[in-house]
Amino acid sequence: MTQEASPALKANTTQTHAKVWDIPTRLFHWSLLGVFVFQFVTGDILDDAMQLHFYGGYVALGLILFRIIWGFVGSYHARFSSFIYSPSTALQYLMGRPKLQQYLGHNPLGAYSVLAILAVMLTQAVSGLFMTDDIFLDGPYHGAFDGALDDAMNWLHHNAISLMWGLIVLHLSAIAFYSFKKKQRLVPAMLHGKKPVSHSQTSDTPADLNVVTHWWRFLIVVAVVAVFVYCLVNVFAPEPEMGLYDY
Ligand code: HEM
Ligand code: HEM
Repeated sequence: MTQEASPALKANTTQTHAKVWDIPTRLFHWSLLGVFVFQFVTGDILDDAMQLHFYGGYVALGLILFRIIWGFVGSYHARFSSFIYSPSTALQYLMGRPKLQQYLGHNPLGAYSVLAILAVMLTQAVSGLFMTDDIFLDGPYHGAFDGALDDAMNWLHHNAISLMWGLIVLHLSAIAFYSFKKKQRLVPAMLHGKKPVSHSQTSDTPADLNVVTHWWRFLIVVAVVAVFVYCLVNVFAPEPEMGLYDY
């Protein structure tokens, strides 16, 4: 089996380590955590930080778009195709079957929470583009279409955040459950990229299971996303009215 093959391994006796998360995936994760906290502080806690909130929002949008593209061109465990399971597989997993399978990447249930977090963060970032603080700052697309769309986006921006909090509580509870109850240390794996892997019922060598970072792909995706977000905010967006808007 190579890194492009199934991540499900049979549990067994010999333990070794495999590189599961490539550097871009790990960078993405910790940056997303940072930008989420930043957005919460600048949007909800501080009174006078809306300009920073806008900039943070563009970074958040870029991060999510990066992760979506990386889900197609990244290394094996970062790809959606490696962790999109059928709902029945997720249900079986929830009910504790099959006991012998070890998932190196996201497990079938975790995979759904990852997709939900990405979808809700994307909603939050896109709806932000249509927001206004009703004082000095309008998002680049506020007023660009009709008022009903702005209202809908405003509603989404204020409500999707509650869903996001719910998902984060679930996320952290699941990680705590795996750490303390199942003795799977997922957090260090998200830091250094490696997970312990059981390995004797297959003919794999640990090297086969290691993912590598494709640096050129990474740089190209970052550049494409940066240019796209820049154009979305500064080129494609309608011209702001003089003196009123500053984003
Ligand atoms: C994923 C990225 C984002 C997150 C997590 C986020 C989060 C938040 C939060 C928590 C609030 C406070 C909501 C409340 O009090 O109910 C807020 C308000 C706001 N956000 Fe964002 N935001 C994001 C992206 C953006 C973007 C890209 C823009 C604009 C370019 C934006 C514009 C605004 C504005 C104008 C408000 C103030 C609304 C008001 O005064 O009622 N946000 N955001
Ligand atoms: C201290 C807080 C956090 C810790 C310790 C943490 C830890 C982790 C760990 C260990 C994983 C890998 C799970 C697995 O092995 O299947 C993961 C994945 C993930 N987490 Fe977090 N997380 C935190 C906060 C957050 C926040 C705030 C967000 C969203 C804003 C988030 C979004 C994600 C996403 C999207 C993934 C999937 C990564 C990918 O495939 O690209 N996490 N997290």
